[in-house]
Amino acid sequence: MTCISHWLLLLSLASAALSLPLWRERSGLIEMENSIRLGGNIILTPSEATANRKLMTVKEAELKEAESTGLFPPSMHFFKARPLIQKSRIFSILREMPKGGALHLHDFAILGVDWLVKNASYIADCYMCFTRDGGVRFMFSKPAPVGKLPPGCSEWILLEAYRKKLENVTEFDNSLIRNLTLLTDAPETHIPSQDEIWRRFEGAFITASGLICYAPVFKVYFYEGLRELYEDNIQYIEMRAMLPPVYELDGTVHDQFWSMAAYRDVANQFTGAHPDFLGAKIIYTVHRHEDIAQVSEAVHLAMKLMEEFPDIMAGFDLVGQEDAGHSLYELSDALNIPSKLGVKLPYFFHAGETTWQGKDVDENVLDALLLNTTRIGHGYALVKHPVARNLSLELNVPLEICPISNQVLLLVSDLRNHPAAVLMAEGHPLVISSDDPSIFGAQGVSYDFYEVFMGIGGAKADLRTLKQLAENSIKYSALSKEGKEKLTEIWQRKWDKFIEDLAMNPEASEREL
Ligand SMILES: *[C@@H]1O[C@H](CO)[C@@H](O)[C@H](O)[C@H]1NC(C)=O
Ligand SMILES: *[C@@H]1O[C@H](CO)[C@@H](O)[C@H](O)[C@H]1NC(C)=O
Ligand SMILES: *[C@@H]1O[C@H](CO)[C@@H](O)[C@H](O)[C@H]1NC(C)=O
Ligand SMILES: *[C@@H]1O[C@H](CO)[C@@H](O)[C@H](O)[C@H]1NC(C)=O
Ligand SMILES: *[C@@H]1O[C@H](CO)[C@@H](O)[C@H](O)[C@H]1NC(C)=O
Ligand SMILES: [Zn+2]
Repeated sequence: MTCISHWLLLLSLASAALSLPLWRERSGLIEMENSIRLGGNIILTPSEATANRKLMTVKEAELKEAESTGLFPPSMHFFKARPLIQKSRIFSILREMPKGGALHLHDFAILGVDWLVKNASYIADCYMCFTRDGGVRFMFSKPAPVGKLPPGCSEWILLEAYRKKLENVTEFDNSLIRNLTLLTDAPETHIPSQDEIWRRFEGAFITASGLICYAPVFKVYFYEGLRELYEDNIQYIEMRAMLPPVYELDGTVHDQFWSMAAYRDVANQFTGAHPDFLGAKIIYTVHRHEDIAQVSEAVHLAMKLMEEFPDIMAGFDLVGQEDAGHSLYELSDALNIPSKLGVKLPYFFHAGETTWQGKDVDENVLDALLLNTTRIGHGYALVKHPVARNLSLELNVPLEICPISNQVLLLVSDLRNHPAAVLMAEGHPLVISSDDPSIFGAQGVSYDFYEVFMGIGGAKADLRTLKQLAENSIKYSALSKEGKEKLTEIWQRKWDKFIEDLAMNPEASEREL
């Protein structure tokens, strides 16, 4: 007998001996996987169980349809998938679902950009200039601005006068809308590099900031943003904010304390008018390309903001393209300042938002945990780091998963391959959010929930998955114990109503967008 055939014989004998008991245990093993899955050990109430059957009937029909048409939205680029998602009944059910908190959003990307163009840019004294690469910048001013031009921009022109001279204002306004998002009809014809997409992404942010940082717009933008999130059945938000200078018509600028007070007052005004919305917390952020001295300064400011705004200020984070910025390790001297001073400054670090492995960038997931982060933004690289993954589990530090953001910023194309699929299968703590919905042409968090429910969570993700995600968003929020109880109360009331509607009639959950 040759060596190889000997081996083959042994192997077949071994598998024959093993196969029988393993086959007998098959259903038990599948059951084990079902219970490990995110939400797997939730026990549904009788009406939830009825609602779940309706939900899964709709889901199975949509999965079947996708198989026959070959068009499965989570496997497609979001810009292509969006119109299909809008027609999905699962999507309309998810729109209706009370989702608890949206914990990963950024200051200038929570409200549809149409409002910025059709409303904000029509306010009197709005000026615009053209950048060299075909973009635009905005500024409100009275008297007319002299100088103060962003680098490389044309002269300031008064928008009102410019629009009067145009033949087709709608066409122009549409071009402004395109400047404020990454949307394109043909995302596959020109596949940009990650660096290029980040440049355009940050460009859209800067363009929007000219409009949003005008004091009167700043407050209305936040109010309208809260309204858009509220209408998506979100009951609470945590928003990363860079707190750039907000300016008045005469050029006066306000500091970060003014902006925090504005966020607090607007949030209070909104919750006053909508008692079934709990409110907002702010995570102060600074760009990760800043050097250690600047980050130290920002950390000191964050500590002062915590003291001055204990109700709305949640903590600190770093933003910007992780691959191009400083790693947490490089900045650790600055980030260790609060613990050295014995001051409490909770961290909510973006970490491991990269496709690289074995570099400082993906090691950010470990450093974020070592720096006692409360949650990890994205944590896309976590599955490649077994020790960090275990630590995250042991320390109960959840990931904030923003699937559409990861796809548009070119980390993954088919969302069934998103690493969160692995984490959901093993019940890792995580929450779902949308990062910058307006820039991606999304709205609220429902589109991201759709991708998670239909794609990332797999065919077996059901009402228990959704309930666990909503519960996680409360459990892992920065709210106090009392705040969490209050949010749970608001959410539970809406959840019961949602279940009742769904159990009665899935059509009842359908609503025109
Ligand atoms: C602009 O938005 C504000 C606040 O939502 C609203 O009161 C106003 O009517 C809007 N104006 C236009 C022209 O849409
Ligand atoms: C103006 O442009 C819009 C958008 O491109 C187009 O739908 C509309 O027909 C145009 N109107 C006129 C009067 O040309
Ligand atoms: C941005 O707006 C300018 C001014 O209308 C326009 O020329 C340019 O094409 C727009 N950019 C995009 C990406 O549409
Ligand atoms: C993290 O927590 C540990 C244990 O409480 C503490 O010793 C350490 O100083 C903390 N580090 C930071 C950066 O907060
Ligand atoms: C992670 O935790 C599991 C379960 O506690 C353990 O079996 C495994 O060895 C750990 N892995 C690492 C890399 O620490
Ligand atoms: Zn983010």
